[in-house]
Amino acid sequence: MNAIIRPVKGTRDFYPPEMAGRVWLYQQMRQVSEQFGYQEYEGPILEPLDLYAAKSGEELVEKQSYVFQDRGGDKITLRPELTPTLARMVAQQQNQLTFPLRWWSFGPFWRYERPQKGRTREFFQWNIDLIGDPSPQADAELAAIAATFLKQVGLQPNEVQILVNDRELMDSALKTLGLTFEHRAAAFGLIDRRDKLTPEAWQTQASEAGLSPTQIDGLIALLENTGLWQQSDSLQQFFRAVEWFGVADYVRYSPTIIRGLQYYTGTVFEAWDTAGDFRALFGGGRYDNLVGAVGGRPVGAVGFAVGDLVISLLLQSLGKFPPYAGTPAEVFVTLFDEQHLEAALRLANELRAAGIKVASQYSPAKLGKQFKYASQIGARFAVVLGPDEIQRGQVAVKDLHTEEQTSLPRAELAGYLTRPNLT
Ligand code: HAM
Repeated sequence: MNAIIRPVKGTRDFYPPEMAGRVWLYQQMRQVSEQFGYQEYEGPILEPLDLYAAKSGEELVEKQSYVFQDRGGDKITLRPELTPTLARMVAQQQNQLTFPLRWWSFGPFWRYERPQKGRTREFFQWNIDLIGDPSPQADAELAAIAATFLKQVGLQPNEVQILVNDRELMDSALKTLGLTFEHRAAAFGLIDRRDKLTPEAWQTQASEAGLSPTQIDGLIALLENTGLWQQSDSLQQFFRAVEWFGVADYVRYSPTIIRGLQYYTGTVFEAWDTAGDFRALFGGGRYDNLVGAVGGRPVGAVGFAVGDLVISLLLQSLGKFPPYAGTPAEVFVTLFDEQHLEAALRLANELRAAGIKVASQYSPAKLGKQFKYASQIGARFAVVLGPDEIQRGQVAVKDLHTEEQTSLPRAELAGYLTRPNLT
């Protein structure tokens, strides 16, 4: 026997149960997106490398992107994120589009990261963005969408929190600590890496970046100042609107959120499980310069992206991921024997025409075995059409949940299988 070829490291096979989970998430995302009036869109999987060089940040572009040269010699990237594509699409049709845009998308992305809990090299993201509204209320709408989604999938405020900060606020707070422009950029990186390093390694990196001991102490104090948001007019407006959206219990200020991507200009946010068992569930923020950076006229934008993986792991760990229901077939049409193949096939068709989902048996096998198969794949009913039933104009039905067996007139079968009080 040939050896099975291994899948690419960091990719996932979606067998039907996993696929059903992904589709369920997608449905929740679609529902929440539409509830807030967002339209679905999609971009290409392949993008020119230059698109990300514009703004995403060194780590993502140089260390994590899948880049290859195509046969024409162009440098192509498997998209590591969608925001630059969105900015490009907006810039391309800026004169035709009606702003503000409310757009969402769900699709695959690739990053060459070390596979670990919550991190794969191929993953899916729900992206949702509001382009062309500079107000803090637009930012609050995105936080409300995020909270509505968390609520919809069954996560409570004591299980997840959306942590919000503002890069402008942090920048001016760092200025008061006497940090130069370069030092402030380095401090943003240090804030983002704080969870990934030991306190000692973090202090060393801070010194190496040129921060004085007083500035490092000031930075540490800043990261504990949960009242800092009161110094920001836009964050005050943001939190007021979050109240009005009715999601204040899911959203709070945290000076530790800064985000790794370079293009954010204002509000930044991430969702974390309160137990601290997982990585960020999602992240996003305001990026007012990206459309301009890819050749369009500057237009304010805010949005976020949720990966499929961390949220699934969290829901599974809390026992909140919906169980797999098995085959969509409600009914399995058995084969009595070879002579009754046509009758079985025609019956299956008749049921499908009545809107019932049906799978059928074509190769002769013992009825007991067919019932067992139908039950194992998760069908609710098995029907049998043998010579006795045909003679009497009836069909035998076995309820695979209750094991009850009945016979009924063929004309009544579809109604029986779809009766409303079925449990
Ligand atoms: P990001 O923080 O790089 O932001 O990714 C957002 C989310 O995607 C993460 O919180 C995580 O759930 C998921 N994710 C990222 N990398 C991986 C990975 N290697 N494996 C599994 N999941 C992953 C962005 O991508 C921004 N473009 C979001 C955005 C949209 N900002 C504005 N609009």
